[in-house]
Amino acid sequence: MKDVLALIRIKKQELEQLPLLKYMEDESIEPLQRLAWIPCLAPFAMNFGDLNKFVLRQEPSNNKIQQIINIHTYEDDHHWQWFLEDVQKLGFDHSIPFSKSLKFMWSEETQKTRLVCHKIGLLYTFNTDPILRLAISEAIEATGHVILYRTAQIAKKLTESRKQKYRYFGQSHFDVETGHPIGTENVEEFIATLELSEETKNKAFELVEAVFTAFTEMFGECMEYIVNYSLEQPYIKPIDKKRELAIL
Ligand SMILES: [Fe+2]
Repeated sequence: MKDVLALIRIKKQELEQLPLLKYMEDESIEPLQRLAWIPCLAPFAMNFGDLNKFVLRQEPSNNKIQQIINIHTYEDDHHWQWFLEDVQKLGFDHSIPFSKSLKFMWSEETQKTRLVCHKIGLLYTFNTDPILRLAISEAIEATGHVILYRTAQIAKKLTESRKQKYRYFGQSHFDVETGHPIGTENVEEFIATLELSEETKNKAFELVEAVFTAFTEMFGECMEYIVNYSLEQPYIKPIDKKRELAIL
């Protein structure tokens, strides 16, 4: 498994080079603007709870590896509530007709983001070996570390200026994701020492690549969103704004 973890480390570094991550690090941009992609993340943030509850978690299980995955699912299955809380606090809670919000959530602009959990669900369903499922779970976690590390830096600035704490985008979420839930002490050593056959290892590599590809596409789409949508009118594209004005 050491080789799989090494690949995950490399993929993490690649992810860090994406325009979205660089944009988030750019201190010349206002902190809130660096989080302007939040509406685009919604389909993923909301789906992720279900992915953990209904797909990644396999209960009951006597398999130690599946048990480790299960513990993580209990940690991650309710973070969408923190997301909604932060959406409100950060001022993204605009009032728009229900049909328009649904249209946005299922629009082409949010397609890659919306499909991340579906893609992972399929990879998981078609690979029943717990070691392969662990590789998927580790890859997902790693992508979370990359993005949450950066949101935590931005949230810190916003907390200072707005005197608010942010449970999804703030440091506490990063700490939870990088910490060890009860029952997973020494888990890293256990995972690293797992022996994989050559065939399993190659399959695990393939799955790690696929997970990172899904997240890379999602982060690309979030960056596109920043370009096309304004912070003030997050659900209305400039072209649509013109149309609406023409109608008026
Ligand atoms: Fe989370």
